[in-house]
Amino acid sequence: MERKILIVGNWKMNKDVSEAVVFAKEFYPEPGGFGDVDVAVCPPFTAMAALKEAFTNTGIMLGAQNVFYEDRGAFTGEVSPSMLKDLGCKFVIIGHSERREHMKETDKEIGRKVMVALKHRLTPILCVGEDLKQREMGRAVGFVRVQVDKALVDLSSEEMGRVVIAYEPVWAIGTGRTPTSGQVEEMCQAIRATVAGMAGAVAQGMRILYGGSVQKENIAQFVQEPNIDGALVGGASLRAADFRELIAQAQVR
Ligand code: PGA
Repeated sequence: MERKILIVGNWKMNKDVSEAVVFAKEFYPEPGGFGDVDVAVCPPFTAMAALKEAFTNTGIMLGAQNVFYEDRGAFTGEVSPSMLKDLGCKFVIIGHSERREHMKETDKEIGRKVMVALKHRLTPILCVGEDLKQREMGRAVGFVRVQVDKALVDLSSEEMGRVVIAYEPVWAIGTGRTPTSGQVEEMCQAIRATVAGMAGAVAQGMRILYGGSVQKENIAQFVQEPNIDGALVGGASLRAADFRELIAQAQVR
């Protein structure tokens, strides 16, 4: 099944509103846009309204970096899925390893967030990935399969088919170290097989991304693999010219 490449920029806790607007001006694609690649940017919540405006009619989609699992009420500091929809969000990153580590997010909470995002027709980008110890012990694939299972177990097949999964080995994030494209392909195949076991044929249409020190120099080797459908890009999505070049290098299908 043909799956369109998806490149998502995760700005993390970077860029204030004026910096985001400057980025948007520099990033705006030439006529012809980004070709055959879907592109999304996930800024901090504070820059979202400005980017919604700046990205109007560009085809660049907006995503959030987190969401809460209730829709309104006494949850000080949280942002709901309907608030994200209101800001024009299409995607939401859920279960990023930085949130699992620093905010102690559990698989259970992550599963709830995925479910609520889907109910609101947001596309969750579910992040999974092993740490270095698990990789060195040869347990990476088993560990990631369990993470996928725990986050998706309560969903219907149709809902599972609407999830994007980002495989991000913790040891590759922000480190400049990457697995080989063969190792990533093996993991993405295992993720697809896990989803197929739960949801059947919809797994073939599901997009699975790689994330962790993706750069314009190495993106092509990843997206050439049959089960890697794009990338979640942190550091290299912060400079407009570099991110544009990275997207150009991802036009391989
Ligand atoms: P990185 O981050 O590209 O800076 O390694 C990726 C991510 O955390 O999503």
